[in-house]
Amino acid sequence: MGDEAQRMQRTGEGTVAAETLLTSRLHPGSEQHAPWVWVNGDLVRSESLRMHYFTHALHYGSGVFEGIRCYETAAGPAVFRLRDHVDRLLASARVYGLSVGHSAADLCAATLETVRRNGIGNAYIRPLAFFGEGSIHLTPSGRCPTEVLIAVRPLGAYLGDEGVARGVRVVLSSWRKFDRSMLPPSVKGCGHYMNSILAAQEAAARGAAEAILLNADGTVAEATGENVFFATRGLLVTNGDSSNILPGITRDSVLTLAADLGIPAVVRPFGPEELFAADEVFLTGTAAEVTPVAALDDRPIACVESGVTARLQRAFFDCVRGRDPRHMRWLSHA
Ligand SMILES: Cc1ncc(COP(=O)(O)O)c(C=O)c1O
Repeated sequence: MGDEAQRMQRTGEGTVAAETLLTSRLHPGSEQHAPWVWVNGDLVRSESLRMHYFTHALHYGSGVFEGIRCYETAAGPAVFRLRDHVDRLLASARVYGLSVGHSAADLCAATLETVRRNGIGNAYIRPLAFFGEGSIHLTPSGRCPTEVLIAVRPLGAYLGDEGVARGVRVVLSSWRKFDRSMLPPSVKGCGHYMNSILAAQEAAARGAAEAILLNADGTVAEATGENVFFATRGLLVTNGDSSNILPGITRDSVLTLAADLGIPAVVRPFGPEELFAADEVFLTGTAAEVTPVAALDDRPIACVESGVTARLQRAFFDCVRGRDPRHMRWLSHA
């Protein structure tokens, strides 16, 4: 090792450069990250975090994550369906051979502790488990450590307040959704999102808020980070596992709420022509919550106060805000 390299190793200068890179890219107007991050069992200040530039996941997307929301309720901040998200994280980790090393109960407790310490009532929570630095081999198990972190940030309506209220413009992407024979769609894998990024970039270039991806056979898969529902003559339809979706926890909540409201629902594959013909179309996801679709490829779709979407959206917000006594078990108070 040369003198300069030795000096950098002693002072940690090389890693400081990487840290600066990771923390200095916030552009004006972007949301602030919360100051405390849970990392491998400890809460640490976010500015003290250092990431090695040979972190396996940085190069190959070899990690799994979750997106979870915490809402202010009359009884204080409550995390929505925390255990379901943590169970999905651990299931995703198992598929890629990541040894998380923390039980579901410990990760739930750690999530609540992170929310409490940061003092953000309406929070977006991002648990992430990934292969760290150790090897550039494509078989990281046993070579790279599994790193686990839980980060928190404020997040408003992901597709905008106006979008939640009046609906968003969506396009059918020219990018197809990866098939389950290529990558497991039920796994929330970091690298899987390159497919979504291409579709989201295309949507933005076409002036739309979101994109829906079709499967190779032309049926609908899902949006870049949401499941797709439509309603026709009072019947609610969404697709299932056979359509290469991430089976969303919001999707599952909405199906339960539809049953509460006596709205008949069916899970089956469908094509884009059914979306064009539908009375209503909406998207569900932790970030996007329940967002109506106001136009698909510039064809307007109705969003009416008395519609199925509006009723389900109201029921969903009642639920997450702790105003529905039937679903209090979905809330974990921080
Ligand atoms: C690709 C994809 N589909 C669907 C969803 C909706 O899942 P959930 O409702 O669990 O957030 C998400 C968001 O996590 C997603 O990224």
